[in-house]
Amino acid sequence: MARLSRRRFNALAASALAAPGTIGTIGASALVADVALAQAPAPLLMRAIPSSGERIPAVGLGTAAVFSNDDDATRRAAAEVVRALVDAGGRLIDTASTYGDAEAVLGKVIGAAHLREAVFIATKLESPDEAELARSLARLATPKVDLLQLHNVRDTGQSLAHFKAWKAAGKCRYIGITSTYRSDYDALEAVLRRENPDFVQVDYSLDNRLAEERILPIAAEVKAGVLTALPFGRGRLFRAVRGQALPDWAKPFAETWAQFFLKFLLGDARITAVIPGTSNGAHMTDNLGAMRGRLPNAEERKRMVALLGNR
Ligand SMILES: NC(=O)c1ccc[n+]([C@@H]2O[C@H](COP(=O)([O-])OP(=O)(O)OC[C@H]3O[C@@H](n4cnc5c(N)ncnc54)[C@H](OP(=O)(O)O)[C@@H]3O)[C@@H](O)[C@H]2O)c1
Repeated sequence: MARLSRRRFNALAASALAAPGTIGTIGASALVADVALAQAPAPLLMRAIPSSGERIPAVGLGTAAVFSNDDDATRRAAAEVVRALVDAGGRLIDTASTYGDAEAVLGKVIGAAHLREAVFIATKLESPDEAELARSLARLATPKVDLLQLHNVRDTGQSLAHFKAWKAAGKCRYIGITSTYRSDYDALEAVLRRENPDFVQVDYSLDNRLAEERILPIAAEVKAGVLTALPFGRGRLFRAVRGQALPDWAKPFAETWAQFFLKFLLGDARITAVIPGTSNGAHMTDNLGAMRGRLPNAEERKRMVALLGNR
């Protein structure tokens, strides 16, 4: 919530309660406007996609290990998480052709709730294969995804020519590349520089920050958006703080450990969005809280690293 200061409230109230006349009327309407502002939710953190300027909400949803089986229980959980995402102003959902049935689960859930226009769907292919693309679009129940990524780049010579052709043909709006393997960072760097995709997705978390040195500078140079895979290190960060209270110095910018971990990443302006994975609607809502309120400053980010960061 935006705050109405006590002093401002008192000044406006005094003006509104003044003898009838212009000043009192203006004061009353200003008070109403300020109270409305104070009750409005704080603005969401949005980040621009460098290649287009389109702004997207900075917290999304990852689906690597959570919606793998196309059954009733999974579809119910997915519907709850997607609803929590959209209700809190989120849009980005990251999936892949290899995440079990996740694409099919998402296609059904998004279709049933008529949310296709409300979400930004990113998926991944293992190779530039027309049949694999057709399968992903069919499972996601959409003629076009928002972002199509080449999954786990591992060879410096990999080409995005097919992805560029698909973008031109309207099968996707943006193209990207991904890796979460340090041993493949050479390939990720080479393809990022040469092929100039709209996005790069890389592993980046408070305790895993090699991407800061290797990938983020190149992304900034070639104007690629950055999505952070594994923002909690597959839950490793929660295990590291189990039983520990959030430090007092973090409370001005984070209400929970999840927000602490995500806001560390968003504190770097080169990050376009974080994509924490969850199958739990309450966790989704918690994670989306990282889009509200201020981010940690440079000194606070150093303190966060000192508390938990290693490489
Ligand atoms: N090569 C690639 O392109 C690549 C590789 C790996 C991952 N990715 C992408 O990155 C996404 C994120 O990675 P990930 O899902 O593997 O790992 P992650 O986001 O680092 O961690 C997920 C874990 O955190 C827990 N969690 C989430 N929100 C929480 C909260 N608010 N409080 C407590 N626990 C919470 C989840 O459990 P609950 O389900 O109980 O919430 C889950 O165990 C993936 O889903 C995928 O989309 C891409």
